Amino acid sequence: MYIGIDAGTSGIKAVLVDDAQQIIGTARASLTSQSPHDGWSEQDPEAWWNALLDVMDQLHRAHPSEMASVRGIGLSGQQHGAVLLDEDRQCLRPCILWNDVRSEAECRIFEERFPRSRDVTGNLAMPGFTAPKLIWVQKHEPDIFARTRYVLLPKAWLRLRLSGEMIEDMSDASGSLWLDVGARRWSEEALNACGLSIDAMPRLCEGTEPAGVLKADLARRWGMRAAPVIAGSAGDNAASAVGLGAVKTGDAFVSLGTSGVVWCTTDRFRPNADSSVHAFCHAIPDKWHQMGVTLSAAASLAWWSDIVGKSERELLAELPEKIERPSRAIFLPYLAGERTPHNDAHVRGAFLGLDKNMPRSELTQAVLEGVAYSLRDAQDAMTAAGTRFETADVVGGGAQSRQWVEILASVLGVRLSRLAQGEQGGAYGAARLGRLASTAEDVTTICLPPERLETIEPSPSLEAAYGERQSRYRALYEAARALNR
Ligand code: XUL
Repeated sequence: MYIGIDAGTSGIKAVLVDDAQQIIGTARASLTSQSPHDGWSEQDPEAWWNALLDVMDQLHRAHPSEMASVRGIGLSGQQHGAVLLDEDRQCLRPCILWNDVRSEAECRIFEERFPRSRDVTGNLAMPGFTAPKLIWVQKHEPDIFARTRYVLLPKAWLRLRLSGEMIEDMSDASGSLWLDVGARRWSEEALNACGLSIDAMPRLCEGTEPAGVLKADLARRWGMRAAPVIAGSAGDNAASAVGLGAVKTGDAFVSLGTSGVVWCTTDRFRPNADSSVHAFCHAIPDKWHQMGVTLSAAASLAWWSDIVGKSERELLAELPEKIERPSRAIFLPYLAGERTPHNDAHVRGAFLGLDKNMPRSELTQAVLEGVAYSLRDAQDAMTAAGTRFETADVVGGGAQSRQWVEILASVLGVRLSRLAQGEQGGAYGAARLGRLASTAEDVTTICLPPERLETIEPSPSLEAAYGERQSRYRALYEAARALNR
């Protein structure tokens, strides 16, 4: 038995997976984020910990005998967040999250202080990443900065609570801007640019390596016969890739989670920082990946559902069974700025083309299409960086909507597969990492492709219609960019 824990932004999920790689138990606890100022996004790590205890207690109550034989645990974590700890390893402030865009000015400072940063880290300095957040704290909260002894990413902090050890894996470390991504080691220069040194960083390991053991009291609490090994684990996107078996060069997937992601596994470090394409280490040794990120994917649908006071399920049920034509409205999903390809912290969302006779369902469709257009922009940036793919799996909560995947297939011009367990993405991949770390098994024998429910082809007529809308969507971004300053 293996457990995968996904520490996401909207909640913590855990899956219990048997030796035949079947999910036999799942548990979830919700989380909220706080936004005390425009563009800020924070969470209290203590809330993650309470939610983690809750999901593990749920699994224990539902599956006491299976929990006894858990051998490995893997973690999948929301990336980039800065957890600041003092000398006694206590949190100094709420975690500043991946979708927080306050540190735009600090990105420029980082690149000025470390001119080789794009070559070494493989990435443009963007406010979502960890390094500029520390320069922001240094400038705006100097007392807290002075007391900061260690900086951990969210899942490394959870590992500290689970095992007492401070260890980080390569995939998540890549999103800090402190990693030399090609060489898979911390960059002293990058850390110095933020007033830090390697002493503030946890030890590095690969996602498949053992990295700590569950504390004895927690193993007892969850009825485990022996304390399981904790895997090096992964950032949530790399964990999803492991869950999907996207471990070979060219394997691709699209994630419709809170954020939206276009991912492709690469054979080597392939940066193209200028277009905001992310070039990170994979969670498995000797592999890397490219990724484009839109900040508000399922988050846009959640926002729309809040605004109209209808559940997402109700809104999706109002859509036509088959999407025949684009919505007359265009939606810009930049509710919290955007990363790929614009790296624009200021732009905000918009609807264009509202009509007094437009039903709510057409606006819901526009929201789904707007997210798809933003992912197409990310895909084009990856194409420019030398990465093309013709098929991909779709994961994340949004993948449950057939219509959303249909829209996406035609906007991206790519065959997309919906999966039997697509919404388990990161948690399932984390369980696989837990298995790889606690056994001597091989990555390729464990990281098999998932069961595919159906493959959706792009529709030629929709593809043409969406191609035309995409140009208007881009023009709308330019207008919004100019007007949102
Ligand atoms: C990736 C990113 C998001 C978070 C979401 O760069 O910022 O996908 O990992 O949890």
